[in-house]
Amino acid sequence: MCGIVGYVGPKDARDVVLEGLRRLEYRGYDSAGIAVVADGQLSSAKKAGKLANLEKLLADQPLPAATVGIGHTRWATHGGPTDRNAHPHLSADGTVAVIHNGIIENFAALRAECESAGVEFTSETDTEVAAHLLAAAYAAAPEGQGRLAEAMRVICRRLEGAFTLVATSAHEPDTLVAARRSSPLVVGVGDGEYFLGSDVAAFISHTREARELGQDEVVEIDRHRGLSVTDFAGNPVEPKSYTVDWDAEAAEKGGYDWFMLKEIAEQPKAIADTLLGRLGANGELVLDEVRLSDQDLRDIDKIFVVACGTAYHAGLIAKYAIEHWTRIPVEVEVASEFRYRDPVLDRSTLVVVVSQSGETMDTLMALRHAKDQKARVLAICNANGSTIPRESDAVLYTHAGPEIAVASTKGFLTQLVACYLVGLFLAQVRGIKYEDEVATVVAELRELPAAVAKVLEQMEPVRELGRSMADADRMLFLGRHVSFPVALEGALKLKELAYIHAEGFAAGELKHGPIAVVDEGTPVVIVVPPRARDLLHAKVVSNIQEVRARGARTIVIAEEGDEDVVPYADHVIRVPRTPTLLAPVVTTVPLQVLACEIADSRGLDVDQPRNLAKSVTVE
Ligand code: AGP
Repeated sequence: MCGIVGYVGPKDARDVVLEGLRRLEYRGYDSAGIAVVADGQLSSAKKAGKLANLEKLLADQPLPAATVGIGHTRWATHGGPTDRNAHPHLSADGTVAVIHNGIIENFAALRAECESAGVEFTSETDTEVAAHLLAAAYAAAPEGQGRLAEAMRVICRRLEGAFTLVATSAHEPDTLVAARRSSPLVVGVGDGEYFLGSDVAAFISHTREARELGQDEVVEIDRHRGLSVTDFAGNPVEPKSYTVDWDAEAAEKGGYDWFMLKEIAEQPKAIADTLLGRLGANGELVLDEVRLSDQDLRDIDKIFVVACGTAYHAGLIAKYAIEHWTRIPVEVEVASEFRYRDPVLDRSTLVVVVSQSGETMDTLMALRHAKDQKARVLAICNANGSTIPRESDAVLYTHAGPEIAVASTKGFLTQLVACYLVGLFLAQVRGIKYEDEVATVVAELRELPAAVAKVLEQMEPVRELGRSMADADRMLFLGRHVSFPVALEGALKLKELAYIHAEGFAAGELKHGPIAVVDEGTPVVIVVPPRARDLLHAKVVSNIQEVRARGARTIVIAEEGDEDVVPYADHVIRVPRTPTLLAPVVTTVPLQVLACEIADSRGLDVDQPRNLAKSVTVE
């Protein structure tokens, strides 16, 4: 999630913008840049890496003093984290500068249009197309006041996807113009000065008076004329005013107590962003960035999914889906074991490495071993340009945005979605037993953001349950089929957040030993498969009876309408009815919330649990 800052007012815009970018560093980024307008001239500077790199550049080559400026910290999606791909992006004539947060889904077609008109691009980003289009629209717009804002409305009517755009121009040196669709943008109103920010953290040290921008709106801020907002058609809109009552730290967490809670809440959007631009209008998949030829994909006769921790659990779920859709055998391996057991790999093997950070050493070493054995490697990763995708033959990025909390939540759900996309893409390219199944599942994928949002609306009983279990000293998690890895993930969340010994296992294994540990009051979480799997469902219901008969406190995750579980459940947590293979995307969420609430009730640091690092860069 990129960081955006804009300023118009009496202060030095360079200082205000850089301070705002520092306030947004928590969002995670891999490059930064700034543009200012002084004496009718637009100047800009940008640099890969941390803000310190940009500040060093500015110390060596200072921008002129200015009172209008924009700044950006970039979390790379299209195009790696390089100087050229950093924002701001300028029009060819250098008169317009644009910064952007989001994904312009139709940028390829728009870029081709600009190139056929003679525009030479200088970056691999989707954003640059907006700078060129805006300059062209400005040139074509009617003379006079509000010309840049009108140009912004013109291009916004052509852009598809999720975007926040902020522009400044030498043509209108006292003005900032911004547009918002789906990605965040908020206006700060000070005394004779105005601010723009991806969130209020960017300007909270200057003003607490804010204006909320709605969907598909353009805001024009002029030093003399003040603030005006319209929709993309140019109809005036009255923005909602509010006063920010958060302190700076709370602002970074979006008002949540923990980054983890914020990231749990971001999961619907993270899933939607990961699907964006990859689902064709006719139910086909569009995964151009995978960069493995169709023939490569047809030659595959074995798949390994290799990862660690939560990412490994995503791989376990991926196995069920990929084998079902493609009929290719899939093995799932813990990365730290993979290369030491001398796995059978060759050119017909596809190794899928899954990593949120893209820097996990165990997974990186497994990747290198696979490549030494001539296997093809596809990375599923959330960090654009990190080591694992760089060393892989192909990559499918998740677009969860930076995940700050050590415990992975939106990273995990988007890994699941990416694994589904890989499985469906393989099936589409290789041909599938049931012709229309890809289109059917693609339609089901589109429903996932809303399904997760619905689960999140019903989490208060889970939070209450978590607070009531703060003293738990152990917990068992049971599941079958794709709910078995969900049980493993639920146990891992509780271990890593609340330091409670927890064990996840296949419900069918109960009678082969684990049931011996169940006695009066033992908390047992059971993730029940959809009723559509009636045989499996009936067996899990009998598993619930078995543990309940021995005194367990049963916490049951079950889909809406499943009444079979009620007689044996101390607590029933409902999730929307979801196709079996996709169900983990919704059934995992209550387990994330439960673990987080128990840890918080125990007074623990939810975001930075003891002994753990966000990225394990040692073997
Ligand atoms: C997840 O909650 C854990 N923090 C941990 O298991 C993590 O999933 C694992 O270290 C792999 O990290 P990666 O996805 O960045 O490779």
